[in-house]
Amino acid sequence: MLTEHEQHEIRAQMALYEQPAAVVPEALKLVQARRGWVADEDVRDVAAFLGVSTAEVESIATFYSLIYRRPVGRHVILLCDSVSCWIMGFRDLRAHLTARLGIGMGETTPDGRYTLFPAVCLGACELAPAMLVDGILHGNLTPERIDEILAGYE
Ligand code: FES
Repeated sequence: MLTEHEQHEIRAQMALYEQPAAVVPEALKLVQARRGWVADEDVRDVAAFLGVSTAEVESIATFYSLIYRRPVGRHVILLCDSVSCWIMGFRDLRAHLTARLGIGMGETTPDGRYTLFPAVCLGACELAPAMLVDGILHGNLTPERIDEILAGYE
């Protein structure tokens, strides 16, 4: 069930668009920002609130890779695997991160601290290789730099 605060925020978005369906991505982002991910129940609630079909909301929720359809860790790492980052050392960084965290791409550490995802270009190719941690951009990565960054999330 959407909270009053969520309903208020979604209503504010509805004022900006003619079609309720256009609000779906923002509504899903708002729900995820408060709950960490988007459950099936949330998809149904957003659909009912906007007056669109559950299938329509579901199709948008599954299209965008940054809408999480299952629980994630307290910190989400998005490691860019697009061309600039690939050239600048993505594979070594992926190996370092997966070894350090003990998980594969798309997985969450057993303690629920981190979830690691691959990501398409983060729009920061001049800083390649790059990653986002909880939406914060980190560039010019090396394995050592990753260790320093993650120390701030321990
Ligand atoms: S390719 Fe990685 S930020 Fe653009």
